Amino acid sequence: MSHFVIRGGRRLEGEAGIQGAKNSVLPILAATLLTAGQVELRGCPRLRDVDASVRILEGLGCTTRWEEENTLVVDTGNLYGYAVSEALMREMRSSAIFLGAILARCGQAELSYPGGCELGPRPIDLHLSGLRDLGAEIDDAGGVLHCKASRLQGREVVLSLPSVGATENLMLAACGASGVTTIAGAAQEPEIVDLQNFLTACGARVSGAGTSTVSVEGGRPLHGCTYTIMPDRIVAATYLCAAVSAGGDIYLRRAREEHLSTVTAVLREAGCVIRSDERGIACTCRNRPAAVRPVRTAPYPGFPTDAQAILMASLLRCRGAVVFEENMFANRYRHVDELARMGADIRVSGRAAVVTGVKNLHGAPVRCTDLRGGAALCVAALAAEGETEVSEIGHIDRGYEDVARDLRNLGADIFRVEDENAEFTRR
Ligand code: EPZ
Repeated sequence: MSHFVIRGGRRLEGEAGIQGAKNSVLPILAATLLTAGQVELRGCPRLRDVDASVRILEGLGCTTRWEEENTLVVDTGNLYGYAVSEALMREMRSSAIFLGAILARCGQAELSYPGGCELGPRPIDLHLSGLRDLGAEIDDAGGVLHCKASRLQGREVVLSLPSVGATENLMLAACGASGVTTIAGAAQEPEIVDLQNFLTACGARVSGAGTSTVSVEGGRPLHGCTYTIMPDRIVAATYLCAAVSAGGDIYLRRAREEHLSTVTAVLREAGCVIRSDERGIACTCRNRPAAVRPVRTAPYPGFPTDAQAILMASLLRCRGAVVFEENMFANRYRHVDELARMGADIRVSGRAAVVTGVKNLHGAPVRCTDLRGGAALCVAALAAEGETEVSEIGHIDRGYEDVARDLRNLGADIFRVEDENAEFTRR
């Protein structure tokens, strides 16, 4: 398997550009199905999850092509299918996001139930109940979702949980519904605002994204457009945490602090000096981080669950102890045992984890357990004395275009050893 070799113990100095956001480009790729014609996505990150989404689009009859490194062109003019294979659904758990768009475009959809993932069960009950509210008939017996919607009818849909995926699925289905749909209790993540901006660029009438109520005026024909994907706030948070972990003075081009203010608030409390403007974020960390108040994950604008593991990794040598509370996913501490192999002192009890700062970390062979847990291992390895080998890095490739390249640009000693038959090789 491909792996990273990281030699820790050196401060970071340098500048890196932040890639397009994985959690924005995936729903936007699904949204291309609503347009007749060609969409040009700029700042599109080269990720395993993007490749999986491209395969889903091509399986439906769309054509795609990469122009330059990060421009993806999608043409849905010859779309003929409405079914997504089980293999493709299993490859990327968030492929459920295609359901609403396929239904809106084709009047029917056939997807197998997306499996759970490393983070625990990933139910889609809110997606299905919301689509049924809009008039979809969904038979979900036997692990396959058979969906029909001769006519989707706009109305108010109430989400009992601010689910990101359910909000996005309903926004896309609502574009194909007649009349106005109002999604109450919607998720407020910046990626939902990016989806609204993309749909608006295609001629849709969507408003309220970023608040708990999103409205969509359906039934409007949507055209292609050229759109630039927002920068990835979790990738930016990862590199800020790398500077906290190893110490350093870094600059992140394109990073937008307004998208990760709960994270930068904690990093300032830990002693970092962070300055930001419309072009990016500068972060200087001189000493071992101070302990911070309890970190509780919550839906946006709360502290992002996707940043929990990477923040934890950056505070392993803090002066004191830090309490984490993971409230979004049942199984999101799988990185803890791997961090312990590097000398971390972390105690987990249910949703809580207590990190007691240690003086030193040491390099060790560690294994990625999931996407953000894998990134956390890299963050910790930068502060560890000696060499760390991080294996199973296919998890990291799902969400980071080239974390070794970016960290090297920031001054880290990291390189990738490619397994000759790795199914996803760097370009
Ligand atoms: C999105 O997942 C992100 N993925 C996740 O990022 C992120 O952690 C999550 O939102 C929360 O911010 C993408 O955008 C592709 P949810 P999603 O629906 O949409 C429960 C990463 O690392 N729920 O907001 O699947 C669910 O179990 C990934 O980039 C239901 O109960 O998250 C969870 O506890 C990991 N029923 C909570 O809601 C449903 O129908 C939040 O899930 C849907 C969700």
